[in-house]
Amino acid sequence: MIPQVHINEVGLRDGLQAQSKHLSVDERCRLFDQLATTGVSSVEIGSFVSPKAVPQMAGTDQVLRHALANNTGVALNALVPNRKGYELALASGCKEVNVVVSSTDTMNRKNINMSTAEIMAASQGIIESAVADGVKVNAYVAVAFECPFEGVVDPEQVISLSKRLADWGAQRIVIADTIGAANPFAVEALLRDLLLGISADRVACHFHDTRAMGLANTYAALQSGVRHFDTSIGGLGGCPFAPGASGNVATEDVALLCQQAGFSTGIDFSALMAAVDLVKELTGTAKGGRAHYWLSNH
Ligand code: HMG
Ligand code: MG
Repeated sequence: MIPQVHINEVGLRDGLQAQSKHLSVDERCRLFDQLATTGVSSVEIGSFVSPKAVPQMAGTDQVLRHALANNTGVALNALVPNRKGYELALASGCKEVNVVVSSTDTMNRKNINMSTAEIMAASQGIIESAVADGVKVNAYVAVAFECPFEGVVDPEQVISLSKRLADWGAQRIVIADTIGAANPFAVEALLRDLLLGISADRVACHFHDTRAMGLANTYAALQSGVRHFDTSIGGLGGCPFAPGASGNVATEDVALLCQQAGFSTGIDFSALMAAVDLVKELTGTAKGGRAHYWLSNH
């Protein structure tokens, strides 16, 4: 049997949240429609955050309603930073949400104006509500390798936060390299210890490609047994509250790595290339992944 890799496309959220050009709801719906044809396992539709904090994500409820109405079969999820975000997501029909806990206090305060203890308590409440409401919930552990404010992060802190979030009922723990500071050896070492306590099918990786390590880190995670990855179309991405966070590892690069290594992602490369072309046209800034030229000519 061909081993499967599951790609969660985060371009509509991580990809757009730090763009200087704000895409309209209609443009985001158009991009969703194209992404939905690519065969990715799931799409992160946006985030239910304060429009004052992240104006790029205003109207996520409308994008979600459009996606639900056009029921394409692709799974949908959305980021919720707090209880209010969870309630707004639920009211819009969201059936899968993502909570985010950073590994350091400073990053939590910059991102969501809470201490680590406060966001852990808030996340526990959201996870327990989601379980009771029949909503799937994933928990991100951000700045899992290095924090732009506090420096190198102790892997024990990442593992401890991850285990508590998993115990509370998060279906998947997403290890996030927010500023793209990881390297494949650090990824392998962290996952070796993390996977002693949490099974690989409950772990995903979210790599930013700031220092061109995104694919190498993906390879290290694949070798460690992880089969769920966040990627972003055209390599767009970045967190407005984490200085130095640049694009996520590109969907087209990870999809090609998986295909060449004998994994199935379900991705249709011609539909994916059409999505890359569209995101370049809409944003004017997406460069496209390293594989873009090769894929466009084969
Ligand atoms: P705050 O100022 O502490 O919040 O911000 P507050 O509770 O005092 O409320 C202030 C205002 O925001 C109020 O409105 C609230 O109603 C409203 P006002 O009375 O001023 O009109 N509000 C909201 N509105 C909409 N949705 C909500 C919400 N909550 C409060 N959910 C807050 C706290 C969390 C709201 C703010 O800091 C925020 O929205 N931050 C956004 C953080 C964010 O989007 N970060 C990027 C995503 S995380 C990421 O990129 C990392 C990731 O990719 C993984 C990785 O790479 O590491 C996932
Ligand atoms: Mg990110």
